[in-house]
Amino acid sequence: MWSHRGSVSPTEEGLREMTQLVATYPQIFKRWLGPTIPVITLCHPDFVRSVLNASATITHKNMFLSRFLKPWLGDGLLLSRGDKWRHHRQMLTPAFHFNILKPYVKIFNKSVNIMHAKWQRLTSEGSTHLDMFEHISLMTLDSLQKCIFSFDSNCQESPSEYIAAILDLSTLVTKRYYQFFLYMDFLYYLTPEGRRFCRACDLVHDFTDAIIQERRRTLATQGIDDFLKIKTKSKSLDFIDVLLLSKDENGKELSDEDIRAEADTFMFGGHDTTASGLSWVLYNLARHPEYQEHCRKEVQELLRDREPKEIEWEDLAQLPFLTMCIKESLRLHPPAPFLSRHCIQDIVLPDGRIIPKGNICSINVFAIHHNPSVWSDPEVYDPFRFDPKNTQKRSPLAFIPFSAGPRNCIGQAFAMAEMKVVLALTLLRFCFLPDTEPRRQPDLILRAEHGLWLRVEPLE
Ligand code: HEM
Repeated sequence: MWSHRGSVSPTEEGLREMTQLVATYPQIFKRWLGPTIPVITLCHPDFVRSVLNASATITHKNMFLSRFLKPWLGDGLLLSRGDKWRHHRQMLTPAFHFNILKPYVKIFNKSVNIMHAKWQRLTSEGSTHLDMFEHISLMTLDSLQKCIFSFDSNCQESPSEYIAAILDLSTLVTKRYYQFFLYMDFLYYLTPEGRRFCRACDLVHDFTDAIIQERRRTLATQGIDDFLKIKTKSKSLDFIDVLLLSKDENGKELSDEDIRAEADTFMFGGHDTTASGLSWVLYNLARHPEYQEHCRKEVQELLRDREPKEIEWEDLAQLPFLTMCIKESLRLHPPAPFLSRHCIQDIVLPDGRIIPKGNICSINVFAIHHNPSVWSDPEVYDPFRFDPKNTQKRSPLAFIPFSAGPRNCIGQAFAMAEMKVVLALTLLRFCFLPDTEPRRQPDLILRAEHGLWLRVEPLE
């Protein structure tokens, strides 16, 4: 089977097979992609170090996936390489500074409140069962659209063309990835799906372009100082503003095309991953009511004398147990389970063996997180693994849901903040119980086949 994970199928059975493989070969193993292409699978922290910590010029991203995403995401951070990537990564790092992220916490509160209002209606007769992925993906898209563009599409309440296009694009890219006969562009763009992909790309690009143009006009009429003063006062500096105002060490700004690519990349990189992280943590807490209750008590205690119940930036560090539960869920159910790299130079492994240049290697986050030589009882959900007193002896590369090294996730702090706000308020208002047991589905992100259904009961 052709796939980025080096030949296990993207199903529950495939993941079980992977779990057995890593128990038998706990450091590295080779699988075949078709009859001729070997894929070196790295599944131990000491072995991924050689690849992840290598300079970004020594390894490149998965070439097939990049080619399919390029018409949508352009040369944004996720897909760019070499000097362009390094230059943009440096320019964009300040966009994720906590001073910029802080005001977004209000947006996370508002977006989750909208989802909860919907859940209150759906549970007005008592408990009901809901697909977590469906609801939470809309909510993460809603909050990203507000943080990136300051645009409220009301997508959680009524259909939005733009949000539907983003969802469609994600589905179409994943589908194409698993249909080898559609790898050739000229064939793909002749199919109805290929044409739908083009239409959705145009719609998403037009949306982003229109916002950039409008913002450039405002910047020109107000002047940079007034623009900044107004934005800072109203705490409404969004990612588009930060990108528009970014300059490199020579005073050079990003072009409109660059800004569009980065904004579209944030929308893609930030919605499904965070929705997956949140859906699986609710699933794990539904299966472990004692941890669910422990988290709820922590949140109730924190917000005891506060009305309205709102999580603020400063609260995020005051939820240690809830944070442990999120991390343990990201271990057991990593949203990005498989990363892959194309080696541009020979890479020397710790045992002296060499991955020759030209090879593909899979950084198997799922296998590292389920490796019994790294984690005792790896299939057990145990948040206490992330109690600070238990983390010191572990390799920092034993837990890499956001990858590591120079090309790690730039949105990690944003994602952790959003997950904490959403989980805290959700547990305060609702109780979760298991429903039908999900079958894990590791496509580009870790989903559940036919959705992740949980029984939801309103509290009070
Ligand atoms: C739980 C949520 C998230 C997870 C698990 C996650 C995971 C990852 C991983 C594993 C990578 C490395 C990809 C690779 O090597 O191929 C990555 C890269 C990236 N992520 Fe995230 N991500 C999350 C949320 C976000 C958010 C919220 C944003 C933006 C708002 C974001 C933006 C990006 C970008 C731009 C890159 C490319 C960085 C570069 O190559 O310089 N991610 N993410």
